[in-house]
Order: sequence, then structure tokens, then C-alpha cells
Amino acid sequence: LCYFPFFEELEEADLREISSMFITRTYEKGRTVFLEGEKGDELYMIKSGVINIYRIDEAREIILAIFGDGDFFGEMAVLENEQVRSASAKTMEKSVLYALKRQDFMSLLNRNPNISMKILKTTLDRLRKANELITNLTILDARTRVIRMLLRLAGQHGTQRKDGILINLKLTHQQMADMTGTVRETVTKILLELQDEKLIHIEKKKIMIGSIEKLEQVIFGD
Ligand code: CMP
Repeated sequence: LCYFPFFEELEEADLREISSMFITRTYEKGRTVFLEGEKGDELYMIKSGVINIYRIDEAREIILAIFGDGDFFGEMAVLENEQVRSASAKTMEKSVLYALKRQDFMSLLNRNPNISMKILKTTLDRLRKANELITNLTILDARTRVIRMLLRLAGQHGTQRKDGILINLKLTHQQMADMTGTVRETVTKILLELQDEKLIHIEKKKIMIGSIEKLEQVIFGD
């Protein structure tokens, strides 16, 4: 449990109490956790796996965020009391989630103000990213949007390797198109260009960025 960032400062006894409140749920790849518009009274923490947060608009999917180990989601409906889910959630890999009921979550927050602060900070960070996405969608060309997406994913899901940063997600070109407001063919073309330019390469269906600085230079200049 101490492995979730917002529990790191808690005492052993508190941790034990919290873990008794969790309901463990295991999902195969591609399963729905909840749908946009449903009432929600649980928050989820990701023990392991990958979660896609998305909305459907005019039959196309828009990916708002991808979460991995140690992240939480579903806090909005829970904190806003009686509100419905603002987006849908499904698994992109087999995932193990810890579900926490509203009542338990509330009593946890009341007893540990630090946790509220950490959740607030995380949601502010998500708001920043959402602002960035809006700006990207309205002004930037597709190539710049795809590069920014890669940089963002590297920050969130990247692991340092000898020859660069590996984005630890298996994403289809369609999913990357759903994250950048473009079409699959455009993503395919841009990824091929970036490979030709030796800025990225593909390793077992995952994207490896040779040098973050070089990729940043492409969009921000020197
Ligand atoms: P909730 O509204 O309960 O259900 C959907 C969840 O997706 C939401 O809580 C947040 O946890 C998460 N979510 C919604 N919008 C975003 C966003 N723009 N960025 C990151 N996470 C989001």
C-alpha cells in the first residue's frame, strides 16, 4: 500500500486499516470498469495494469488519459456526491484494482488531511494536462500533437533504458489517433517519419525515444 503515493506518509496501523477497506477486483484486458453517465460511489486505485479513460463523441473515441500502476481514478463522481461518471474507464491490459467505497474514502480523508492535499495536487496536475490538450487540439498541426503526446507519455509511463526512454504501453495507431484528434493513417505516417529521422524506434510494439531533448528540439526549436 505504501506504494501508492498518497499513502506514503501513513503509519503502519493506518495502512492496515485502509487495506481492510479495499475491495480487490481483477479485470481481463479490454473490460469496462464503468461507463460515462453511470452513478458512481467507488474510487479506484491501480495495483497493476493500464486503464484507458475515454469518452465517445459522435461514434469516435476520445482518450482523455491513460493511467498505470499507482494511479487512482473515479474520484470525481465520488467527491461530487451523487454525480455521474464524467468519462468511461476500461482496461488496456489485465488489471488489478482496489475499489474504495465513498463512505470509507470520506472517513479516510477526514482523518488524514494530507491525503486530501495529495489528491488535490494530482487533480490540478490533470487539469494542467487537460489545458495543454485543449490548446494542442486547437492550434497545433498533427505532427506536433503526436510528438507532444509521445513526450507526455514518456513522462507518465516511461522507463529509462540504456538507449533511451521506453514508453511502457502497447498502443495501437488508432488509440494514438484518439489521443491526438487525428486519424489512424496520419499517426502511421508520422511515426514512420519519426523512425526515419531516428527520433524514435519500435521495440516489441512499444515506442522507444532515443533522446527526449532531440524530440523536444523538433517542436520547440533549440
Ligand atoms: P469520475 O468522473 O468519477 O469517472 C471518470 C474518471 O476519469 C474521473 O472520475 C477522473 O478520475 C478521470 N478523468 C476524467 N477526466 C479526466 C481528465 N481530463 N484527465 C484525467 N483524468 C480524468
